Amino acid sequence: MKFFIDTANLEQIKEANDLGILDGVTTNPSLMAKEGISGKENIMNHYKTICEIVDGGDVSAEVISTDFEGMIREGEELAALHEQIVVKIPAIKDGIKAIKYLSSKGIKTNCTLIFNVGQALLAAKAGATYVSPFVGRLDDISSDGLQLIQDIVHVFNYYGYDTQVLAASIRHTMHIVECMRIGADVVTAPLNAIMGLMKHPLTDIGLQKFLDDYHKLNK
Ligand code: E4P
Repeated sequence: MKFFIDTANLEQIKEANDLGILDGVTTNPSLMAKEGISGKENIMNHYKTICEIVDGGDVSAEVISTDFEGMIREGEELAALHEQIVVKIPAIKDGIKAIKYLSSKGIKTNCTLIFNVGQALLAAKAGATYVSPFVGRLDDISSDGLQLIQDIVHVFNYYGYDTQVLAASIRHTMHIVECMRIGADVVTAPLNAIMGLMKHPLTDIGLQKFLDDYHKLNK
């Protein structure tokens, strides 16, 4: 299972990368705005910096256009920035066409804002590298986000699609644990949710006891 970090914050990306477990980064226009990154040149430079921090990992950069021509123009520009860039495209009609076009040119794509299994199937048929179903946003409206991950994993396995299921909109550590159980290919999560995986009080208590016992005899 691959771990992506879901942020445009360079410090958090460095911290996750330094752990040695980071496989990539996902961003979106809201995450870029949260870091105060604006203007085309700054945005492009920020993507490049992220690619340079993550050793060899995929970095999703989202298009702003909503029409086919605009999406492929932006997609080609983004892909030319760095070999690690994956062009993130919304699950709308022109988006599916743009995914088909870009994937036929060998450009990696991530179909975002997936909220049902039909959208995921269309993106896979168009050749998307990743589909991003949004777990937390479905949970927020009393729908079952994890059930959607399970359904897409099942459909892709059943029909043999290579498209990877990238569980997004992850709110907490248990979402990650459940995605592992279900068999999501990738989880993209905030740093605190990833760090939560390593927390266990018995680990801390056990370590303290080992150190205390050692120090009793080794003054
Ligand atoms: C990442 O690919 C998505 O854009 C992101 O996970 C959305 O998360 P949110 O629902 O917390 O905004």
